[in-house]
Amino acid sequence: MEQKSMTKKKFVSESRVIMTELVLPNDTNTLNNLMGGRIMHWMDIGSAIAAQKHSNRIVVTASVDNISFGKPIQLGDVVTLESSVTRAFNSSMEVHVKVKAENIPGGKSEDTHSAFLTFVAVDQGGKPIDVPEAVPETDEEKELFAGALRRRQLRLILAKRMDPKEATELKSLFDLTNE
Ligand SMILES: CC(C)(COP(=O)(O)OP(=O)(O)OC[C@H]1O[C@@H](n2cnc3c(N)ncnc32)[C@H](O)[C@@H]1OP(=O)(O)O)[C@@H](O)C(=O)NCCC(=O)NCCS
Repeated sequence: MEQKSMTKKKFVSESRVIMTELVLPNDTNTLNNLMGGRIMHWMDIGSAIAAQKHSNRIVVTASVDNISFGKPIQLGDVVTLESSVTRAFNSSMEVHVKVKAENIPGGKSEDTHSAFLTFVAVDQGGKPIDVPEAVPETDEEKELFAGALRRRQLRLILAKRMDPKEATELKSLFDLTNE
């Protein structure tokens, strides 16, 4: 799938969303840790808002890449989710969400996990519609932008929407690792 020409551009920083939540008893499991479903819900909401801000459109979640929960988040922690559009394609946008948990009285803060989600901008009839290009400025934004094409190809292959033979970016990655 080739990228169409896009008339409008927006900086990645223009649509960044910081969302903060407090882990309450109703968000936790019987070990007093934040439930996976609740954090996934917050990740979906924060990143959907970033995609909406980027596109100024209604967006739908098309896919969520692998999420691993390495560290538990505890009752009473303050959870901060930072969502940024890494790259826009035609109607779809990849969003990176970084999650941080803070125990404020204990003075502890740690990055717990991150994930990539893909949103598609749609019109009132639910038909995909083109979105502005996302322009990275910082080194981190540029790195995420560069890797987005490779991740897109991988997820489209897994969704059986792309023939692996067409995944040129992925192929070049594997060629490099074989050197
Ligand atoms: C996402 C959706 C709009 C795609 O519609 P479609 O008719 O398949 O449209 P297209 O084939 O033209 O694809 C549109 C875009 O979606 C992307 N897409 C489709 N499936 C995808 C997937 N599984 N992962 C990542 N991107 C995907 C395509 O790559 C394409 O991107 P591009 O325009 O940037 O090239 C449609 O499948 C849908 O409405 N799904 C349900 C969404 C939903 O209900 N989400 C949960 C609630 S918000």
